[in-house]
Amino acid sequence: MRIYQTENYQQMSKKAANIIAAQIISNPESILGLATGSTPIGTYKNLVKKYQDGDIDFKGITSINLDEYVGLSKDDDQSYRYFMNDNLFNHVNIDINNTYVPDGTQKDAELECKKYDEIIKKSGGIDLQLLGIGQNSHIGFNEPDSVFTFGTHCVDLTENTINANARFFDDINKVPKKAYSMGIGNIFSAKKILLVASGENKAQAVYDSFFSAITPNVPASILQLHSDVILVADKDALKIVNDKGLI
Ligand code: PGA
Repeated sequence: MRIYQTENYQQMSKKAANIIAAQIISNPESILGLATGSTPIGTYKNLVKKYQDGDIDFKGITSINLDEYVGLSKDDDQSYRYFMNDNLFNHVNIDINNTYVPDGTQKDAELECKKYDEIIKKSGGIDLQLLGIGQNSHIGFNEPDSVFTFGTHCVDLTENTINANARFFDDINKVPKKAYSMGIGNIFSAKKILLVASGENKAQAVYDSFFSAITPNVPASILQLHSDVILVADKDALKIVNDKGLI
C-alpha cells in the first residue's frame, strides 16, 4: 500500500484528483468506480477544473458508483445519482449513458443487485475504485458484519451510519434505512483502489483498517490484502497512525 499524507483536505483532494487524472490520461476508456459522501467532493471539484482546463477528457470514460439509498429516485436531491450528476457528471463530457448508479426505486432487491453485478461484469472490471471510509470503517455501504459479502446486496444501514448521514437531511427520520451497495468482492476486484480520508473523526477507522487485524467487523481492513491500494489522507485522519509511529 502507498500512503500519501497531506496537510489538509484541500491537498488531499488535489492529490486524489491527480491520481484519477493520471488514470484517465493513461487509459481514456477507463472504468472508474466512484463514491459519494462529503470526502470526495473536493476531488470532483479538482477533476472538473482539470476538464475545464483541457487536461482530461471524460468522453470514453465509464463510471460505476458504489451505492444508492433504497427508496430515493434520481431526482431526489439526497440520492447518490443526484449527487454524482451535481458534483461531476453535469460538468464534464462523460456520456451519461455510461454512468451507472444502482436504481434506488427498484423494489425487487434481488433483481437490482443481480443487474448491477452484471453491469460490473460486462464492463470488463473496474480499473480504479475511489472510496471514502465510514467512521465504522465501512466502504460503500458494507457495514461491519460477521462475513465479507461478495456481490451487490441490499444493506440495512447501522445506527452509526444513519446518525453520520443525518447531517445531509433536515430530519433524521428521513434518512433511508436501506441501501443497495456493491459488495466487498466487487470492490476488491478493482485493479486499483484509491481511498480518501480527512479529519480526526476518521483516524480510528484508518488505523483499524490498515494497521490492525483483517476482519469483516472492520470492512475496509480487507484492503490490506489488495496489491494496489493508495491511501490519500490528511494528517488529522492519520493522527493515530502517526502517534503510534507507524508511518
Ligand atoms: P463521508 O462518508 O465522506 O461523508 O465522511 C464516507 C463514507 O461513509 O464512506
